[in-house]
Amino acid sequence: MAKDKSIFTCTECGGTSARWMGKCPGCNAWNTLIEASAEPAAGKNRFGSVHASLAPTSEVLPLAQIEAADFERHPTGIDELDRVLGGGMVEGGVVLIGGDPGIGKSTLLLQAVDALQRSGMNTLYVTGEESGAQVAMRSRRLGLPDSQVPVLPEIQLEKILHTLQSRQPGIAIIDSIQTVYSDQLTSAPGSVAQVRECAAHLTRTAKSTGTTIVLVGHVTKEGALAGPRVLEHMVDTVLYFEGDTHSNFRLIRAIKNRFGAVNEIGVFAMTEKGLKGVSNPSAIFLSQHAEPVPGSCVMVTLEGTRPLLVEIQALVDSGGPSPRRLSVGLDRDRLAMLLAVLHRHAGVACMDQDVFVNAVGGVRISEPAADLAVMLAITSSLRGKALPKGFLAFGEVGLAGEVRPAPRGQDRLKEAAKLGFTAAIIPKANAPKSPIQGMTVHGVDRIEEAMSLIRSLT
Ligand code: TYD
Ligand code: MG
Repeated sequence: MAKDKSIFTCTECGGTSARWMGKCPGCNAWNTLIEASAEPAAGKNRFGSVHASLAPTSEVLPLAQIEAADFERHPTGIDELDRVLGGGMVEGGVVLIGGDPGIGKSTLLLQAVDALQRSGMNTLYVTGEESGAQVAMRSRRLGLPDSQVPVLPEIQLEKILHTLQSRQPGIAIIDSIQTVYSDQLTSAPGSVAQVRECAAHLTRTAKSTGTTIVLVGHVTKEGALAGPRVLEHMVDTVLYFEGDTHSNFRLIRAIKNRFGAVNEIGVFAMTEKGLKGVSNPSAIFLSQHAEPVPGSCVMVTLEGTRPLLVEIQALVDSGGPSPRRLSVGLDRDRLAMLLAVLHRHAGVACMDQDVFVNAVGGVRISEPAADLAVMLAITSSLRGKALPKGFLAFGEVGLAGEVRPAPRGQDRLKEAAKLGFTAAIIPKANAPKSPIQGMTVHGVDRIEEAMSLIRSLT
């Protein structure tokens, strides 16, 4: 049971509690509270020596008298990365970059930091996961055998902070934050308390010295940055790597950015020589069928500023007594809801069927504008009838069966027309005022309308 001065930290939300409880008071998750001592080990001054001299006393000023300076940005020269960052690395900014193991976090950061070093910036690459030799091997593979990036293989926080103080780099990469530990804390290395404390110290150092710090974080099977989701609110920018490690394409998405737009994406291809930006990515998530096949419907999703065409695939197959509903890249709860709407409002019943849906290419679609394409793909698979060639659909579908507009419908349609699509079913409110050349656009208000239209088209 709880000893004196113990606190309990939630592995999900990072919330704390003074006593053990079955349910986290912060996020209501069960059995996520673990004991972590909040106190430093007895007799030690917790980083006092490092930070005491760095704490300036700030003056209180009215807003109007504070100069609204723009942030000093350092573009990495990797366009797709700069785009998600909002124009480049920001002085004193802290970036958290998460993703599955092997997706390319270390590769991208080594490319970025090498480019910054070559542009004359003082950099530092702290590696806790790999040895210096392994990082050197990667740099050779990337075609950078002459790289001058200083590498520090180290996992102890105090030593890292000391190096940051003495070298004062413009940017430092910490690969990864989960390997960093402080022996000033009694909790185990890798525990939530350790990761959070270490990240907090690094963040403070970034703010006081103006060094940009990039923290690499691992993602658990559930898709959350392992344990310390709490890091997300501590840092300025959170980037996630997405994509299927089996395909070559990788997406980086900004899910939080104090210095730029969120939901902006960068698209890369993993090549033999590292990650290369894909400047015109709109068609990479389409699988190439020679002829249309049942269960496939293309949609246009709008990620950040760029429209992307993504193929939604569905397979409806007779299931057992408790049929399965599985989705990859799309929300499963939303799938259940769409199946109910299909049944109730369009008379399409999948009650005794297994339903699988997939967004091709490992891309994740969170916007509801995918609804119409998902429903059309499901219906197409159920009936065994392919949708017409060059066809696409998008639009949100509500519980009452209404089809709601998607933001920036015109941009989506124009991108599809550019890629040779010839027919579309979209929300009526998105229907273009003047016709789009080469494309027949059907605007619908309700899901029933979309279903009867598709019957007449196939
Ligand atoms: P890595 O950056 O080590 O992933 P992370 O740090 O996210 O765990 O990426 C490793 C994968 O990328 C690995 O499977 C090898 C592959 N790769 C290439 O295909 N080309 C390259 O030039 C490099 C450096 C790695
Ligand atoms: Mg790595």
